[in-house]
Amino acid sequence: MSTRSLDIVPLLAGRGGANASGEAVSPLAHALQCAALARRDGAGDEVVLAALLHDVGHLIGGAEDTPRSHHGMWGARLLRSFVPPRVAWLVEHHVVAKRYLCTVDAAYVETLSAVSRRSWLAQGGRLDRAALEELEGAPNLLDVLRIRRWDDLAKDPHAMAPPLEAYRELLESCFGPQSWERPLAVRSPVRGAFPATWSS
Ligand SMILES: [Fe+2]
Repeated sequence: MSTRSLDIVPLLAGRGGANASGEAVSPLAHALQCAALARRDGAGDEVVLAALLHDVGHLIGGAEDTPRSHHGMWGARLLRSFVPPRVAWLVEHHVVAKRYLCTVDAAYVETLSAVSRRSWLAQGGRLDRAALEELEGAPNLLDVLRIRRWDDLAKDPHAMAPPLEAYRELLESCFGPQSWERPLAVRSPVRGAFPATWSS
């Protein structure tokens, strides 16, 4: 944890609200839906924060995901000096968590959106045995799989989610004072619909 600050709200509310995407919702709406699902299911603050920020890497990197370089890594690199290590780990590993679920559960692949299925292949497809066992030995495996499930559900164009300000205390405890002046994205519930190139 660092004493420096990072004004992450404008990134989430600005680029996150305006980014073109292949999904049915904007990146911001997706993040808010994911965090709301985590809260609904009683997750603790660290897991809720990871759910909210899991795709932030898409907002700072314009490149396509590959097995060795993907948005989970980019996001964790941005966040690592501001958030608890568990949060950064969850953000980094939510990509491999999808590959894990696709490897152990053939039916899971069928539940993915078309964009998410394409990105799964770009991210490396099924895991080999060594990678599978490595993730199974991780202490936060269950939490990262929960985030993965919320991630998949958090693409509802009709859902209304609490705004960013609902996470004010949590965000400012990690990132310091934030710019909250973008009213639509930070103070009002956010509906999911957005003519959407991002995918988890
Ligand atoms: Fe996501």
